[in-house]
Parts: sequence; C-alpha cells; structure tokens
Amino acid sequence: MQNIYASKPYYASITGIGGYVPLNKRTNFDLEELCDTSDEWIVKRTGIKERRILDKEFATSDMAVMAVQNLCTQFDKDLSSVDALIVATSTPDVMMPATANIVAKKLDLDNVWAFDINAACSGFLYALDMGASLVETGRYKNVLVIGADNISAFVDIHDRSTNILFGDGAGVVWLEPSLDNGVIDAYMQSNGNGREFLNIEGGGSLHPDSKGLIDVEKHYIRQDGKVVFKQAIQSMAHACNEVLKRNNLSIDQVDWLVPHQANKRIIDGVGKEIKIEMGRTLSNIEYFGNTIAATIPLCIWENIKLLQKGDLLMLTAFGAGFSWGASLLRWGI
Ligand code: COA
Repeated sequence: MQNIYASKPYYASITGIGGYVPLNKRTNFDLEELCDTSDEWIVKRTGIKERRILDKEFATSDMAVMAVQNLCTQFDKDLSSVDALIVATSTPDVMMPATANIVAKKLDLDNVWAFDINAACSGFLYALDMGASLVETGRYKNVLVIGADNISAFVDIHDRSTNILFGDGAGVVWLEPSLDNGVIDAYMQSNGNGREFLNIEGGGSLHPDSKGLIDVEKHYIRQDGKVVFKQAIQSMAHACNEVLKRNNLSIDQVDWLVPHQANKRIIDGVGKEIKIEMGRTLSNIEYFGNTIAATIPLCIWENIKLLQKGDLLMLTAFGAGFSWGASLLRWGI
C-alpha cells in the first residue's frame, strides 16, 4: 500500500550536522549544595550526572551560531548558499525580533528566510518537518534547522523538580534535496492540555511586567513531573507506532531510535513500549540533561560514528503544550 503521507519527488536529506554546548558544567554535586537532593537520587531517577550552563552574558543565538560554525567546519559547507534558516527555541534572546533573525545577522546572512518555531521540547522535530517541507517544494535548496535553548536562564536554581533536569545547548542540521535519503515521514501532534503541567508563564503579553514577574517567580519553568512523565512515554510511543504503521514497517527495520532526552526512565519507557531491541536507542542525557529543542540534533551529532549511510532513524519528542511527534528518515551522510 502506498503511504500518501510519504510520497514525494525527492527527499530533504541531512547533509551536515553540528552542535555546541557551553563549557561550564553543573554537576549533581553542585546541586546538592543548592537544594535537598543527592547525586544518587538524580542518577537513579533521571540518568543525569551533569548539564552545561551558558554564561549570563550570552544567549540562545550565540549557541546557535557556534553550532552552525561547527557544522560548516566539519562538513565544509558554504553559508552563502543557505536560503532558509529556522530556529526552534522556547528561550528566544528577546521577545522581538525572532532569534532566527539574530542568528542570521551574526552569520552575515542577508538573504535568508529566517523564522522561529516555539514547540518547546518538540521544537526541533517541528522545525525539521517544516524545513523538509520547504526543500520538498523545490523553492528552497539549502535549509538550516537549528534547535537551541538557554533554558538555564529560566530554571529556579533552588527548585529540585526542575534544576536536576535542564541544561543549555544547540544543535543544527543542513537540509538539501536528495533522490536517495532524507525525511520520509513525520507525524506531528499538539493540544493545549499541558499548559498547567509544564510552563513558563512570565515574559509574554499576559505577564509582561518584569519587576512583577520576579516578585511572583513567573519567569521560572514549572512542571508537574509525574503528569509530564506519563504523557511523554505514551505520546512518543504512540507517534512512533503511528509512523511505523503508515509506512508498513516493523520496529526491527528501524536502525536507531533517537528520542528526546528528558529522563533516562522516559527514554527506556518509550523503547519498551515500542519494543525496540536493546542497544539501538541513542542517548547522551548523562552529560547534557534536557536541552529542550537541542536534544535530538545534539544526540545524533555526538553519536554520528555509530550511523551508517542508509540507516533508518526514528526521531521522537514530547514537550510543553503538550506537543509531540515522530519523524522517520534515512541517514544520508
Ligand atoms: N532529589 C531528591 N528527592 C527528590 C527529588 C530530588 N530532586 N525530587 C523528588 N524527590 C523525592 C520526593 O519528595 C519523593 O519523596 P517521598 O517518596 O518521600 O514522598 C520521591 O523523591 C519521589 O518523588 P517523585 O516526584 O515521585 O519523583 P519522580 O520519580 O516522579 O521524579 C522527576 C521526578 C521530575 C525527575 C520526574 O517526574 C520526571 O522526570 N518527570 C518528567 C519531567 C520532564 O521530562 N519534563 C520535561 C518534559 S519535555
């Protein structure tokens, strides 16, 4: 049976990948000094040992630029051919303009269509599908898709339900048309049911007053970890199974699962639900924690040596909104 979601004249293929994480580390032992927690508890309940924290004088765009420069060096790419640039972030440098515009300026790109996508931890997958769609139209030949978040700027350092999880980082992929490899299918979903369970309520038009925000601590990320945990496993597993089903694939045909890196137990839970063989799930949560929109490209970037040209990858993510999804792609590098 032909999959109408996946039929296209050519694919948007990943032809380069880059990443950046700040040098500064925040270990579990640092957190023991800040709140009532322990290295043992954090490792057992999340799988995280440390995260990277951006210095205060920098912002999301700076990490995005570093990731792009890393990609260009590693894959010998010429930025002047880029015609669209998408930044997935929920921690923009400023409310306006878009962080993508700031990144374009810092990279000296004067003629690109640059815009942001805010889908929290699902941001990279949303942006990848958008970028792939642009390439598939034939109107865009070289598209940069960046996932970048400076979430530490919004973490209450004394809140042990969030400070243990999050870290900063940026990852990027370069998309180009290909007849052989690339994004095959994507299943993206969202609803508004998650607002009370995972949010940063301050800084937008509802609560724009920065002084008032600090008084009521609305500028911090807040969550109900248990609700998010359960929804994350169910939603990512459902999205992966949906993609498998409509592409007539069994999980054994997928070479690598690349899940959003939120909690090692969530990653394991998704793997168990979709019954992927042990050892075929990529992870780097131990050293970076949850870097929001950056987790998936950073995880692929770090594990690139494991991937062979032609491998089938299933990417899946879940985040605030709630938002979630899964993408299927054939690796082309
Ligand atoms: N350090 C030490 N103890 C902690 C703790 C911490 N950081 N956080 C909670 N505890 C304690 C609780 O007080 C509780 O103690 P009790 O049994 O004596 O009452 C116990 O540990 C279990 O707490 P619980 O809240 O059930 O922990 P958990 O196993 O659900 O783990 C999270 C908490 C936040 C790590 C987990 O719920 C989670 O990862 N949720 C998903 C969050 C997420 O991924 N968000 C981003 C989505 S993209």
